[in-house]
Amino acid sequence: MDGILRNEVISNIINRRSVRKYKTEQIKEEELDLILMAGQHAPSGGNNQTTHLLVIQNQEILKELRALVEKEFAQMEVYEGMYKSLKGSILASRKGGYDFCYGAPALIVTANKKGYGNALPDCACVLENMMLAAESLDIGSCWINQLRWLDENQAIHTYLEKLGLAGDETVCGGLSIGYKADKVKEPLKRTGNPVTYIR
Ligand SMILES: Cc1cc2nc3c(=O)[nH]c(=O)nc-3n(C[C@H](O)[C@H](O)[C@H](O)COP(=O)(O)O)c2cc1C
Repeated sequence: MDGILRNEVISNIINRRSVRKYKTEQIKEEELDLILMAGQHAPSGGNNQTTHLLVIQNQEILKELRALVEKEFAQMEVYEGMYKSLKGSILASRKGGYDFCYGAPALIVTANKKGYGNALPDCACVLENMMLAAESLDIGSCWINQLRWLDENQAIHTYLEKLGLAGDETVCGGLSIGYKADKVKEPLKRTGNPVTYIR
């Protein structure tokens, strides 16, 4: 096992953790290019390659988007059995000062064609590739799902369309990205994801 952990890909998979505290400075252009290239090299159903990446680095836009996300979440109802993270976003938004991307200097929104059956898995492959590429460059990232939850929200969709999202695209996920401001976390022990061998 020790030998395999020296393999860079495997060790990045094991050591990658979600980062929720970032330095304000942008990552270098060449680092961003490598991360995006890793995302673009993800496999896709039928080699479709329709995942669209919106890379938001403009701080004014990010501020506006944060405020809009907070406003829209704050108006949503909480109901019994609601997904706990979604409920958390709504409650935090009602309190005010909610930052769904943890002050990261960049947010990469991933979208795909509405009605395309592999929209979500294709985006997930892109996001995972980018998270692992970021980890290999010692750059922090965290999957950000809030814009996906708000995909049906007209105000959010219209705002994202102004940034370049196409009218026939659906938001599938997102990634906050930046230099880590927190101390490095230990690998998270996984106790789920059971394996059944049929041999
Ligand atoms: C589909 C998916 C959605 C997620 N959404 C969010 C999110 O909206 N905000 C967040 O802080 N983390 C989000 N995460 C990160 C998970 O909370 C995290 O991966 C998990 O707790 C394991 O921790 P680790 O990434 O540090 O190993 C998401 C992860 C996945 C795979």
